Amino acid sequence: MPTSLSGRDFLKLLDFTTDEIKYLLRLSKQFKALKLAGTPHRYLEGKNIVLLFQKTSTRTRCSFEVGAMDLGMGVTYLDPGSSQMGKKESIADTARVLERFYDGIEFRGFAQKDVQDLADNASVPVWNGLTTEWHPTQMLADILTMQEEFGDDLRGRKLVFMGDAKNNVARSLMVVCAKLGINFAACGPKDCMPADDVVEATAPIFAENGATCTLTSDVAEGVKDADAVYTDVWVSMGEPDEVWAPRIKELEPYRVTAEVMAQAKEGAIFLHCLPAFHDTNTTIGAQKAEQFGITEMEVTDEVFEGRQSRVFDEAENRMHTIKAVMYATLS
Ligand code: CP
Ligand code: NVA
Repeated sequence: MPTSLSGRDFLKLLDFTTDEIKYLLRLSKQFKALKLAGTPHRYLEGKNIVLLFQKTSTRTRCSFEVGAMDLGMGVTYLDPGSSQMGKKESIADTARVLERFYDGIEFRGFAQKDVQDLADNASVPVWNGLTTEWHPTQMLADILTMQEEFGDDLRGRKLVFMGDAKNNVARSLMVVCAKLGINFAACGPKDCMPADDVVEATAPIFAENGATCTLTSDVAEGVKDADAVYTDVWVSMGEPDEVWAPRIKELEPYRVTAEVMAQAKEGAIFLHCLPAFHDTNTTIGAQKAEQFGITEMEVTDEVFEGRQSRVFDEAENRMHTIKAVMYATLS
């Protein structure tokens, strides 16, 4: 039977089969080709979507906006302060209002429960643009970037996530690797390892797809044979300021440096969901440099700017992949 995701929510990748994920990746590739050729693809003309952001964003917001406009749709953006949701109106009531106006709802916020509540109460597709637990749209861009480097079949390849491996991005990478048969390693201190829920949920999927999952605090073991070395910020949105000091102390050994890249496979690439602290050219980067005396955090500027880095292709791929998710669920 041909794959159809019509009417589905996109809340976390555990809800999707390997074939469905591969279908979204194929669709992403087609949309990228159309965009690069300048071929119009206003397939969803007349539809409208709303973007609800309780946290800041550059890539995710712009991907939904440009993606929707390319597909011919209207877009409303509601920032953290400008809707009634949560303050004067429950998520359930908000969902029941927005479904009367819009064909799809994107949500970026804190608890996964909130995006689930929206989906449970809205009859239109709801897309998770990041929660504390998951970042599913990011994964499609990451995998598309790996496919562009290594070919469509990524089975047997290895991705290592360095640093705060308990965060939304690392958890989601673990799921997508399991689903696609990619060997996964989480490399960081013991208390930054993925939580038991995701380890338990992915174990049978890794086994079924012939891939391994390694949790290690040893950098050489984590990076050995890696085709992709991935990292993310050491402190995620919504975490309190007090975690910076201990986090920096325990994650410094897991910074992605040229020496770390040299231990990966020949031809390995560097990935990062962005934004990245690779220099002091940001307010927070400069502030942390003054406070803690470090000018680079999760990745060195040398690696970020180096020949193995694919971070800007990865960022561009957010748009093509998010467009695919909207098209697949709304058509
Ligand atoms: N990678 C990512 O989600 O970026 P934004 O926070 O800018 O959306
Ligand atoms: N882990 C990061 C990802 C940002 C795209 C955060 O949640 O802030």
